[in-house]
Amino acid sequence: MTNIIIAIDGYSSTGKGTFAMEIARRLGILYLDSGALYRTVTLYALQNGEIEWNGAILDRRLQEDIILGKIDISVMSKADGTMRVFLGDEDVSGRIRELEVARNVSAIATLPFVRNFVDEQLHRLGSKGCVMDGRDIGTAVFPNADLKIFMTADAEIRAQRRVLQMEQAGQHPSFEEVLKNVQERDYIDSHRAMNPLRKADDAIVLDNSHMTVEEQMVWLDGILRERFNIGIL
Ligand code: CDP
Repeated sequence: MTNIIIAIDGYSSTGKGTFAMEIARRLGILYLDSGALYRTVTLYALQNGEIEWNGAILDRRLQEDIILGKIDISVMSKADGTMRVFLGDEDVSGRIRELEVARNVSAIATLPFVRNFVDEQLHRLGSKGCVMDGRDIGTAVFPNADLKIFMTADAEIRAQRRVLQMEQAGQHPSFEEVLKNVQERDYIDSHRAMNPLRKADDAIVLDNSHMTVEEQMVWLDGILRERFNIGIL
């Protein structure tokens, strides 16, 4: 079953990307990170002066650029499960992880014309089968996905994981600041008008507060065997 679509949604820093990439690698299917596309639109808006110093978005200009086809996003998915994202010719996979992008992305992702633009790209890229992670994949992007997983974990544990990740990248964030950012983004994502973050009725909840990635794979292996007769261990 190579054209299977697996939708993984959930809160910030629950490890959706790590989990989704590992599933894609083991099943030999495409991994698509929908958040990376929202981050790339945000980077474009920052580079083109469409986000002001106080966070205000010049949404008419951004919308015009989208209509005129000026935002040229492409992705490259690799066999090891990772994904690179390009803005024009430039590989922006690293730059979209910077703090300035993280600070503005949730506001950009509330704009309906941005969501429609990203959704079109996601459909074009993923319709033939993929593991896709985000906030609204099982509810809005692929409501008929073959399998939907909703990930959650205690906020303190998620913030701790993000701190570790940032420390490994040479940064020294304070735990309180990271926890605040995680909670703020969850709030914006869950309360926006268009396609807010919520569990699809038919999604299976995975609380990984006290689970390793390998334990998650064992959990998923049971589900895949039962539903599709395929194993991943
Ligand atoms: O940092 P983290 O991995 O938790 O987030 P991400 O997956 O990179 O997504 C960045 C932001 O994009 C989220 O905080 C959401 O505001 C937005 N997003 C969304 O609205 N819908 C999606 N399907 C994916 C991301």
